[in-house]
Amino acid sequence: MNILSPSILAADFWQLGRQIEQVQCSGAQYLHIDVMDGIFVPSISFGMPVITSLRKRTDIFFDVHIMIQQPERYAAQFVACGADMVTFHLEATEHVQETIEAIRQAGARVGISIKPDTPVEAVFPWLEQVDMVLVMTVQPGFGGQKYMDCCTEKIRRVRSAVMERKLQVDVEIDGGVTVDNIGIPLAAGANVIVAGSAVFHGDIQDNVHKLMAQMTSS
Ligand code: DX5
Ligand code: ZN
Repeated sequence: MNILSPSILAADFWQLGRQIEQVQCSGAQYLHIDVMDGIFVPSISFGMPVITSLRKRTDIFFDVHIMIQQPERYAAQFVACGADMVTFHLEATEHVQETIEAIRQAGARVGISIKPDTPVEAVFPWLEQVDMVLVMTVQPGFGGQKYMDCCTEKIRRVRSAVMERKLQVDVEIDGGVTVDNIGIPLAAGANVIVAGSAVFHGDIQDNVHKLMAQMTSS
């Protein structure tokens, strides 16, 4: 099944609760929550208190993308705050196994992500242990960038590897998605699509409907 995961990084934080309700009412299945530490990526976004606060008010699936150095330090805490899935960056840690186990033992699904410059084969040794691979289609750190076409081949390769091994691993992509290009990652094998600007800029409900229409027709 194809899943839309709107990224609140592009939301108007003054109206965050209301905008999340709109996203949920429109039929998006996940909420993508980008945590940035100012070290692994140049920017700082928000962290645990925001997730805890949102968790009290909505039951939508929290797809938490942690762009932080040494994710093993905090992975379990994000689950305690309400993350349903925690996706960490392969490049951010020397302790991949420990990070996977920390998330899993805390009771959440596990995702592993790679930046555009990281070869997709780097995640292959971990495929059996994760629920999702997130292929970044922009440099992590900021919303509103352009989809990098060079990443489409990586989506294809990870999907093939998942199928060859007969695994139930989701393939998520993140960055630069629009209603006009969403068909490209879907055709390449992605089934979880993050969209920030394309959802939160303009009419949210209309944007979600248009993106989801493309997802069902692809
Ligand atoms: C970038 C974040 C993305 C971002 C996507 O580091 O991981 O989730 O919010 O934003 P758009 O969809 O605007 O490219
Ligand atoms: Zn993200």
